[in-house]
Order: sequence, then structure tokens, then C-alpha cells
Amino acid sequence: MLATDLEAYLRSKAGYHVVALPRARLNVCDVREVESAIEACHPSVVINTAAVHVDDCEASPDDAFRVNAWGPRIVARACERRGAVVVQISTGGLFGDEVRAYDEYEPVSLRTAYARSKYAGEEYVRQFCERHFILRLGWLYGGGITHRKNFVVARYREALGKSVVKSACDKHGSPTCARDVATTIHNLFETDAYGLYHVANEGGCTRAEYVRAILSAFGLDTTVEDIDSSHFPRKANIPDCEMLTSFNLGYAGVPRLAPWNEALSRYVESIKGAEGLA
Ligand SMILES: NC(=O)c1ccc[n+]([C@@H]2O[C@H](COP(=O)([O-])OP(=O)(O)OC[C@H]3O[C@@H](n4cnc5c(N)ncnc54)[C@H](OP(=O)(O)O)[C@@H]3O)[C@@H](O)[C@H]2O)c1
Repeated sequence: MLATDLEAYLRSKAGYHVVALPRARLNVCDVREVESAIEACHPSVVINTAAVHVDDCEASPDDAFRVNAWGPRIVARACERRGAVVVQISTGGLFGDEVRAYDEYEPVSLRTAYARSKYAGEEYVRQFCERHFILRLGWLYGGGITHRKNFVVARYREALGKSVVKSACDKHGSPTCARDVATTIHNLFETDAYGLYHVANEGGCTRAEYVRAILSAFGLDTTVEDIDSSHFPRKANIPDCEMLTSFNLGYAGVPRLAPWNEALSRYVESIKGAEGLA
């Protein structure tokens, strides 16, 4: 999802030659594949978006740490050796239950296998590649309308023809547009302010408020009923709050992202009426 939007965005910018390698062409856990890809491309920057997601990590911690921790270690070492900058994509799901926006200087609280594996990936990148950007993202949406992880499109389709849908009112996060993340990555490239950044559209909401905003942007009048997240059992013990804010973007002179509801409206306008959406 993120890689799709990143590729499109960077291809639209002058001065970039983009090589986007899907999993079928590059396994980030395979040292030889990573080293030979970097050898062949001579990249100045490598962006690692590969990941195993939350519930799959709980089901298979071995795979979680292989892809989310050891993979970034391999990529970071190869980048350091070839003099490339590495951008490692991490997550905002590293904090606790207290409902407030977490900045880059908050201590982490690693409750899920996903959080532990992504944080271990961050640590390897810090350790093995001096010139690195680590970006912790909010609740991400974007990619094509057929992308299986596109939360915005999924909620729209789920609501079609229904008068009521239910959504959790006790989970909080910062909905984040992948296209805005791509812009921020590009802005960070203009600096040499390597380090850790929280990258999320400004503000935050509950899942139910997010779904309400999605349906309203599509012009649906479906009611969104607030319910407790225990009605959506998950393998992982997800923290109640994944809202993010950034101090470091400001310090680096990089614009913060637009408020989440503005970014969401803009995104929905851009896909409304697309063939195959409904
Ligand atoms: N989605 C969110 O809400 C969210 C929030 C915060 C941070 N993030 C982070 O953002 C990044 C991008 O996530 P996304 O939502 O765009 O997820 P996505 O669409 O699932 O992209 C992740 C990609 O990684 C690939 N992959 C898995 N194992 C791999 C391996 N060993 N080698 C190479 N590629 C591999 C997957 O391939 P397959 O499809 O073939 O498995 C998938 O295409 C991830 O680092 C994620 O942790 C996501």
C-alpha cells in the first residue's frame, strides 16, 4: 500500500530514478538478494516498506522478527556498506493506553509481537546504518482501490446498502494518508537531518469517528454505532492509543502533515467515482 503511493509520487518528481522491487523480486530477509539488488542499482536511498502485520506477527513471531527486525538489519548493513541512506518504515503502535498524542521522545511500551519486532528493526537500523531515517506512521490508508489493506475503501464497501455499521469507540489513532507520507519522505530527503520521525496526519480520533468521517466524505448516511473493541476480538493486545505527534519534523524544518480529516476528504474526493470502487 505505502510502496504503491511512494513509487507513484517519487516517479512524478524530477531527478529520481525509482526502482520498486516487489516481494517476488526481492526478499528483504535474504542477504544475497538484498546485496545483489543494491549492487545492481547503486541507490542513493533505500526505502524499506516490507512488513508482516499485527495479527500475523502474533500468530508467527518467528516470521515477525525475520521480516520486521532481521530484514531491516540486512538492508541497513548493505546500505552502510554501499554508502546509501536507509529509510525504515516503522509504526506508531509502540505506546500505551493513555489517550494522548505520543511524540518521538516518549518511552515505548512494547505489548505486541508486531511492536517488539518493529522496534527491534528500528534498533538494528540505528546500529548498522549511520545515515538513516526511521519513520513511525499512524493508521495508514492509501494505495490503489483494490488494495486489500485500504481501510477507507473497505469501510465504504462494507457500509454500502446498510443503515447501520458498528465500530470501536475505545481505540484511538491518527488516520494517515500514504500520499502525505510520500511527500514527507521527499521533504526529508532535502535535509540531512537523519533520525527518528513520527509521521502522521495531525490530530486523532477513535475508530468509530474515523469510520464516520469516511462514510460522510463518500456522502453515505449510514449510522456508525459506537461499540467496545471487545466485539472485534484480535490475536494481538493492541494499545488503546496510537495517536502520534511530531516534534522532530518541526526541528528539521519539514512541514507537519495536514489535519487527518482534511487529508481524508482530499483522498476520498480523489477516488470517488473510480471504476470498480463500489
Ligand atoms: N497499514 C498500517 O496501518 C500501518 C501503520 C503504521 C505503519 N505501517 C508500516 O508501513 C509499512 C508499509 O505497510 P503497508 O500498510 O503498505 O503494508 P502492505 O501493503 O502489506 O506492504 C507490505 C509489503 O511487504 C511485503 N513483504 C512481506 N514480507 C516481505 C519480505 N520478506 N521481503 C519483501 N517484501 C515483503 C508484503 O508482500 P506480500 O503482500 O506478498 O506479503 C507487502 O507487499 C510497513 O512497514 C508497516 O509496518 C503500516
